[in-house]
Order: sequence, then structure tokens, then C-alpha cells
Amino acid sequence: MLAGKHILVGITGGIAAYKVATLVRLLIKEGAEVKVVMTETARHFITPLTMATLSKNPVPVDFFNPENGEWNSHVELGLWADSYVIAPATANSIGKMAAGIADNLLLTTYLSAKCPVFIAPAMDLDMYRHPAVSTNIETLKSYGVTIIDAEAGELASGLEGKGRMAEPETIVDHLNSYFDASFSGVHVLVTAGPTYERIDPVRFISNFSSGKMGYAIAETLAQQGADVMLVSGPVHLSPLHPNIRRVNVVSANEMYDECLHLFPACNIAVMCAAVADFTPEKQADNKIKQKTDLTISLTKTKDIAAKLGQIKRNDQILAGFALETDNELANARGKLKSKNLDFIVLNSLNDTGSGFGVDTNRITIIDSDGAETPFDTKPKKDVAKDIASYIQQKYRQIIDSEL
Ligand code: CTP
Repeated sequence: MLAGKHILVGITGGIAAYKVATLVRLLIKEGAEVKVVMTETARHFITPLTMATLSKNPVPVDFFNPENGEWNSHVELGLWADSYVIAPATANSIGKMAAGIADNLLLTTYLSAKCPVFIAPAMDLDMYRHPAVSTNIETLKSYGVTIIDAEAGELASGLEGKGRMAEPETIVDHLNSYFDASFSGVHVLVTAGPTYERIDPVRFISNFSSGKMGYAIAETLAQQGADVMLVSGPVHLSPLHPNIRRVNVVSANEMYDECLHLFPACNIAVMCAAVADFTPEKQADNKIKQKTDLTISLTKTKDIAAKLGQIKRNDQILAGFALETDNELANARGKLKSKNLDFIVLNSLNDTGSGFGVDTNRITIIDSDGAETPFDTKPKKDVAKDIASYIQQKYRQIIDSEL
């Protein structure tokens, strides 16, 4: 996807700058043309000579060449680039980008660049979770910058936590997905997270869903150009990609109403939410007081996937999930049929590395045509890529059959 693309790489002053040598090599290997711009502080971590040799282009640092006074035009660099990747992006540079400060060439180029901008933050864990940094990252997102999220692991400070720059391979994946744009113009509905079913003003019934799988799918499809409506139950996650619009809901009933409203305008719907199956028949207006025992009558919630399955058109794809503990395949096949899904993604709580709260998943995709496709245990974001490729195949079949 990157062959012939102009990728401008901006390096700011963090220890992860050394990894950018690998990033540039990978980009060149993919066939991209690469130019590098770096800040004064970045020179302490990696030399302009190294980066010029790897990128096969001169590396400007200052506004002008002090030896001959030649102007380094940030406008030209910005116009040249098909995408601008700032890696590592330090807290300092992120703050300046959010505030529109332009005191070095890397930043003036950011302000004049018309191409999509990606940043790969890298800093110590406490800096990364400081509200000032989070707010600046949110501001950049609102300006359309794509954040290639930092990873958790051992940090230069010796501490363990989130703040390591994403690996060069991950950054290349993001760029590939961006230029792939296979889902460009495609509207996707994704449900994610649990629902809360209110018992009284302070209590609810729910489940352990973290929303990670649904958010990873929304992110992957958005990276590949889709316009994603993410209908999300209460979770501690925030979507990163500017193509994702999140609609927050709390109860199964609210999720049902939103999905029914959004589905007709969608080409694809992926139902990842762990929707509560039951809700209290009556919700108490006041906190239920202590007593020796309590019986709560529950009624069935509406089945969102099944309803969408009833109204689905032939040009729409509807996918569901089944998290099972026993009779996995038979149960998943039953849901595939009863909800009229095009395919169902089965994961079993019996598989180590699958289920709620963990970062990995092992899935089998069962298609309405009967085919079963098993996958290895992988990080949820890689599972999301497998699901996205599967959706892509199915979507192509629909497009081809319409031609
Ligand atoms: N689902 C839904 N609305 C519901 C219940 C489930 O949209 N009220 C969707 C889920 O998002 C998932 C699929 O249906 O894509 C299967 O959900 P799951 O909870 O595994 O199955 P249920 O149909 O609820 O059956 P059970 O809980 O008895 O296994």
C-alpha cells in the first residue's frame, strides 16, 4: 500500500528516537519515499546523518541552513507529504502541537501540512496519564490527528507501564491501513461493551465485558476508511480514530433503540456488545433498603441482533459474537441461524487467552454458508484485523453480485 507514497517522518527528542531508524528502513522496504525532519533535542538521541543515510534525503533541523542561509521550507515539506508521522511524539511536542506553537521546523511543518498526521506518543507512564497530556491528545484527535497509541511495557525510566512508543511495525501497519482505505465510503455499526440494567438509583445488573474487542474492531475498520458508528455501553475506553462516532448508551433498551435507528443507513453491522439478557421488571425510584431477603423479577431484554437480522437487506452484512462456556460450536451455530446473521465469531471461555478483560482472544468464524474458519490466539487488535479481512471478503462478494 505504501509503494510510491511520500512519508514525512518527524522525530522529537525522546529515547524511542532510536527506533525510528527501523521505522524508516521498513517504510523504504515497503517502497515509500521518506523524508525526515527532526527537532534540535532529537539530535541527542539519533543523528541527522543516520536518518539522512537511511532515508536517502537530507534531514533539516533548523529553519535555515546556517552555512549558506538556504531556507528549509516547511510549506514545501508539508505539501510534499502524503502523510506525516511524528514518532516519537514527546509530551512537550504534543503540547505545542495542541497549542499551535511553532518554534521549530517540525512544528511549523505540522501546522502547514494538509496531509493526514499520525503521532506515536512516547513518554513515562505518569506523564502519559497526566490530565494535561490526555487533554492535549484529545485536542489533537479533535483536529483529525490519528494517535498510534503507546504500548505498555518496560520504560526507559526503569518503570513498567504504558508509555512505550508503538513498535515500528505497528506504525507501518497504521500507515498501510490508512492507504488501504478498503472500507472507504462504507458505513459500519459496531456495538461494544456491557449494558447496565438498573435495579434502583444505585444498583444495576451487568457483566464483565470490557468493550476491548468491539473498540478494536471499530478502530480497525475506521483505519481502513469506514465511517463507524460505535454504540457503546459503559466502558473505560475511548475511541482514537476520527472516523469513529461514539453513541453512549447505558441499558439494553437504549442500545436497541440506537441500533434500530442507525442500522438502515449502514452497510455492515458488527454486534460485539455483551447485552444483558434480563432487566428488572420494575426499577425502584428510591434505594432499596436492607432487609433479610430480596427477590427481583427479571424480564427478557429485546434481542438487538435478532431484530436487525429480521430487517436486514440483502446488501447488508450482519455479524454477531458468541461467547460460550459449553457446546460452543452447536450454540454458536444456533445463534447464527436464529438471529439470521451472515457470520458469527465464536470465542470460548474455556480457551486460555479468551474472554472478558484479557487482551488476547482465540476465535472461530462460522459462516452462514456452513464454513468454519479457526484462528490462533492473538492480541485483540490482531483478531480485529482478521475479522475486518473476513468482512471485507464478504462485502466484496455483495458488491460483485450487485454488478
Ligand atoms: N445480542 C444482542 N442483543 C441481546 C443479546 C445478544 O444483540 N439482547 C447479540 C450479541 O451482541 C452477540 C449475539 O447477540 O452478537 C450473541 O450474544 P450472546 O449473549 O452470546 O447470546 P444470547 O443470544 O444472549 O444467548 P445466551 O446468553 O443464552 O447464550
